[in-house]
Amino acid sequence: MAEIRKVGVIGAGVMGAGIAAQVANAGVPVVLLDVVPDAAAKAVEKMLKADPAPFMSKRAARLITPGNTEENLDLLADCDWIVEAIIERLDVKQALYARLETVRKAGSVVSSNTSTIPLAKLTEGLSQGFAGDFCITHFFNPPRYMRLLEVVKGEKTRAEAIEAVSRFSDVRLGKSVVACKDRPGFIANRLGVFWIQSAVVEAFDLGIEVEEADAVIGKPMGIPKTGVFGLIDLVGLDLMPHVMESMVGLLPPADPFHAYTRDLPLVRRMIADGYTGRKGKGGFYRINKAGGGKVKEAMSLSSGDYRPQRKADLELPKKLKALLSGDDRISRYAWRVLGQTLAYAAMLVPEAADDVASIDEAMRLGYNWKYGPFELIDQLGAAWVAEKLAKDGLPVPELLTLAGERSFYRVDNGRRQQLGRDGAYHDIARPEGVLMLADIKLASQPILKNGSAALWDVGDGVACFEFTSKMNALDPEIMALLGKSIKTVAKSFKALVIYNEGSNFSAGANLGLALFAANIAAWPEIEQIVAAGQETYRALKYAPFPVVGAPSGLALGGGCEILLHCDAVQAHAETYTGLVECGVGLIPGWGGCKEMLVRWSTLGKLPKGPMPPVIKVFETISTATVAKSAAEAKELLFLKPTDGVTMNRYRLLADAKAKALELVKDYVPPTPVELSLPGDSARVGMEMAVDGFLRLGKATKHDRVVAGALAEVLSGAGANADATRPLSEKDLLELERSRFMRLVRHPATLARIESILETGKPLRN
Ligand code: NAI
Repeated sequence: MAEIRKVGVIGAGVMGAGIAAQVANAGVPVVLLDVVPDAAAKAVEKMLKADPAPFMSKRAARLITPGNTEENLDLLADCDWIVEAIIERLDVKQALYARLETVRKAGSVVSSNTSTIPLAKLTEGLSQGFAGDFCITHFFNPPRYMRLLEVVKGEKTRAEAIEAVSRFSDVRLGKSVVACKDRPGFIANRLGVFWIQSAVVEAFDLGIEVEEADAVIGKPMGIPKTGVFGLIDLVGLDLMPHVMESMVGLLPPADPFHAYTRDLPLVRRMIADGYTGRKGKGGFYRINKAGGGKVKEAMSLSSGDYRPQRKADLELPKKLKALLSGDDRISRYAWRVLGQTLAYAAMLVPEAADDVASIDEAMRLGYNWKYGPFELIDQLGAAWVAEKLAKDGLPVPELLTLAGERSFYRVDNGRRQQLGRDGAYHDIARPEGVLMLADIKLASQPILKNGSAALWDVGDGVACFEFTSKMNALDPEIMALLGKSIKTVAKSFKALVIYNEGSNFSAGANLGLALFAANIAAWPEIEQIVAAGQETYRALKYAPFPVVGAPSGLALGGGCEILLHCDAVQAHAETYTGLVECGVGLIPGWGGCKEMLVRWSTLGKLPKGPMPPVIKVFETISTATVAKSAAEAKELLFLKPTDGVTMNRYRLLADAKAKALELVKDYVPPTPVELSLPGDSARVGMEMAVDGFLRLGKATKHDRVVAGALAEVLSGAGANADATRPLSEKDLLELERSRFMRLVRHPATLARIESILETGKPLRN
């Protein structure tokens, strides 16, 4: 199979620029062209300032070569894959393809990012050879963060072309590739647009207000809390009629979607008046700043006027089935929307996808649903849904009848299976090389386990330590099981991987526990927790086997510190890590200060002498800097230059395991180091810098206290260090612990912890 080494993207708009950035994030050179001469260069510039950032590191931008389609089409000559992401017009796209034929190399793949134009139409009239190299690759916005990629293969598309693009998108771009049929809206938008449209129309029909609708459709159904009206505000109201019309034109007359394509005068009026959502004057929700105030308002669907936003005071039943069963208006609304959305989903097999798992994956990753429609049906029972549809006089999709009393998913002998259209269960295959802890957990028992963690055998002599506590917060139980695990792995395994499949690796130490202990003045107990963490992380670092940390999502505070003690890290590209303790009025106390000093002293590209690493670490920790990607984490040395990065979340465990096995051969634990620290003069320097920030109003009074404690640790001044008197790791840990204990007793620190726990927001005291 031809490997993709260089990519071309045409169209430097929202999608094209974002796709080019993600290719660059993968370390692959990319050409970005637009018909507007300087559009591509401008798009790159704009992306460098955008938040959330399309680039994982600003350095990635250098991999993009911008140009225009009039003068620079020849830049595409050596591209292995050319993605077209220009205006959604058949004639313009086809004209571009004809020009591509004159420059692209033989065997290169061309794909369109179209959302609505059928592949058969796009390739009409073009050569057999072009059709063989052509497919649709439908990315979601924003391309860096949305993990779904829908791929459509045409009748003539070469199997190798699809294989090459799918493999590259999976492994290098980190996408979950879902195969779709050449049908309107593919999978996610076909179902997503039906769901949105049904939720809006039913709300008008049943006299439901937007707050009520979003409260019912959000959390109870596992859908993001923006629900449906909040989501429309986000994408723009003006898009609605546009998308609706294009679907109406594309779908066959018998499609149930047509029942929901009614003209909505209120929505029409809102768009005409500029109320197009968050990008406009407001949408179904707005913040009314009239008269200098800031009033949260919502559009009343019944009166057509804004009024103060209400809390949807709904006593919703805990169970989804109970919610859908009631006969009050809220329950009727919930059932009308979800019942028909689920029925529509069932109709999409085989219309839009070959199996139910593809549809669930598309909705989870394309619309951020927690459960796919068939997972929801399993919660309710297919027979129950079918019966309720029939009672309403609605058609019952074949697939629901086929399932009958059975579920769409089951576990058989530890293997996950789905119900096929043939009425039999089939294994759900993972892409080659993917290893999921979820699968291992279905097929085996943990080796060790307590209330907050577990140790699993992931094969080939590698064990996996999993946090299982709420939000994967670190607590004494995790430390206890980690200590035990180190002994077990030393006896019975070759290597250890620290990994879990939560959305966040770990948000840090359990602050609730710390606050509780502080409130009853249990200082010795707190000191014991700090000491136990230090001891456990030290044991991990010097264990007689290699340890590989494998984070994804947040790895903060203690979650960052555990990674600092691993021999190596294999990080998901979307890892957000940092030592954020100062934000809650503390300093890293589980060896974080020490390990960062070691890193910047040995690996940092800094001027010579003991000062520069100390200053660098002080800046990073005192400002609670969080790296916003694995690439940024390397720049800050939270990760080492030799640590690995995995783009696809699903491939993280397999890659981490491979990394661990690589280290097994000739493994020797690290040798303890001594650090020469600059001592008191450095402490004074750092404190003066903070005093400066204090005067400028950029630091608060308590920031000054915390930074003072941090400076005492990092300079070594707190242990009377100077350049001639190096400190051992043990000295540094004692220093961290004593300053941590001083800070944790401070009322201003406790106020900060309380604020984070109660509001999730840092307190600037
Ligand atoms: P956009 O309007 O932001 O960008 C289109 C870009 O293409 C513009 O910079 C325009 O100057 C350029 N362009 C137009 N004609 C051209 C030509 N003949 N040659 C070279 N460049 C040309 O559009 P957007 O949103 O990025 O959409 C691009 C494609 O992606 C469309 O096919 C759209 O349906 C699809 N899409 C859009 C999504 C979205 O959320 N915006 C999501 C998924 C797919």
